[in-house]
Amino acid sequence: MLNQEFNALRDRRKFMQQMAAGAVGLLSMTGWNQVLRGADDRRLLVHSNAPMNAEPLLPDLVKSWVTPVDSFFIRSHGNTPDLKADSFRLSIEGLVEKPLTLSLAELGQFQQHSVTATLTCAGNRRSEHSRIKAIKGVQWREGAIGNAKWSGIRLSDLLKKVGLRDSAKHVWFEGLDTVEDGGKSFAFGGSIPLEKALSDREISPGALLATTMNDKPLTADHGFPLRSVVPGYIGARSVKWLSKIVVSDRPSPNHFVADVYKLVDTGDLLEVAENAPIYRMPLNAAICTPTADATLKAGRTAVTGYALPPGVPGVSIRKVEVSADSGRSWTEAKLTTPASEFCWQMWSAEIAVTSETKELIVRATDSRGDSQPETVRWNAKGYLYNAWHRVPVQI
Ligand code: MTE
Repeated sequence: MLNQEFNALRDRRKFMQQMAAGAVGLLSMTGWNQVLRGADDRRLLVHSNAPMNAEPLLPDLVKSWVTPVDSFFIRSHGNTPDLKADSFRLSIEGLVEKPLTLSLAELGQFQQHSVTATLTCAGNRRSEHSRIKAIKGVQWREGAIGNAKWSGIRLSDLLKKVGLRDSAKHVWFEGLDTVEDGGKSFAFGGSIPLEKALSDREISPGALLATTMNDKPLTADHGFPLRSVVPGYIGARSVKWLSKIVVSDRPSPNHFVADVYKLVDTGDLLEVAENAPIYRMPLNAAICTPTADATLKAGRTAVTGYALPPGVPGVSIRKVEVSADSGRSWTEAKLTTPASEFCWQMWSAEIAVTSETKELIVRATDSRGDSQPETVRWNAKGYLYNAWHRVPVQI
């Protein structure tokens, strides 16, 4: 049964690729390379095919609180590996008493847990960030975010099983993909502090080793057959095609921890070496409808979007406000999905637009009273952009 499901997923991927090849007609209309059509006529807009990087259209993103897999953004630094469930193994080594290598069947013998958590790319909204000063990298709009139900085993249960040495402080993850960069080939890796790995709470594990997404085996692009999911952290710490875990006394030396996902002004080697890896996503919000450059009638207009809490245990969204007059007055939006510390919330508002309205703006405030900043400091790699989201409109 499981094999049939995997085959069906693989066929679906081929079908999607064929659809993409046939969707070139939308090219000139969107300025995007390709459009993949998923269930419910939702679309993924493709930034690059190999490796695969794609994000949904914003009106599709707010159609549901749980994002269907077909319309979930894909962010890959290397090509998607073709892995077989039968031969797949996960190893765990380093500062542990008893290193282990486990098959998927053996992982299935641990107690299974589920969590609904939002995954966000640290580069989400880079295209807006780039308007301050151009930044290299995938020019994500506001769609490099999605919310899914993930199931698998708690990382802490595996760590208990292998036994931690006293000097253990960090947990490294390594994937089976090959990334080509600067003439070198290496695997994608991530790293989280041990405290995060052990921070299980009733509503959420500190980190999950997930085999399913929305109750189906992970698709190839989302990490089949195993990935880490680290609620509240940048997507880069949720490592796909996970095959190796190393417990260490320091963060991983992998390129994507040591060099890439850092906040830097220039990106020169000394600055990169001196800065710590990014872990958490900050408070954020975006307007998803109406979309940029929409023509609206003066009067009351419905505005919808998402808001993301700052990934801190116990902190959720307190309020979301929308402005149609450049921030002089604000209308409080209705939060239409439940509050949660590691999931986005959907919101909707009715706001009066006038002939003077040039843009719609949103800002969120969390339960600690912290609000999204009006502007943010530019950084050379274009991460964590969370300034007020502004959508130009015509009346
Ligand atoms: N894991 C591996 N092995 N390779 C990758 O390129 N990309 C990371 C993370 N895990 C990546 C990875 C980044 S930057 C993000 S934002 C998330 O995966 C995206 O997960 P998704 O493609 O399932 O949405």
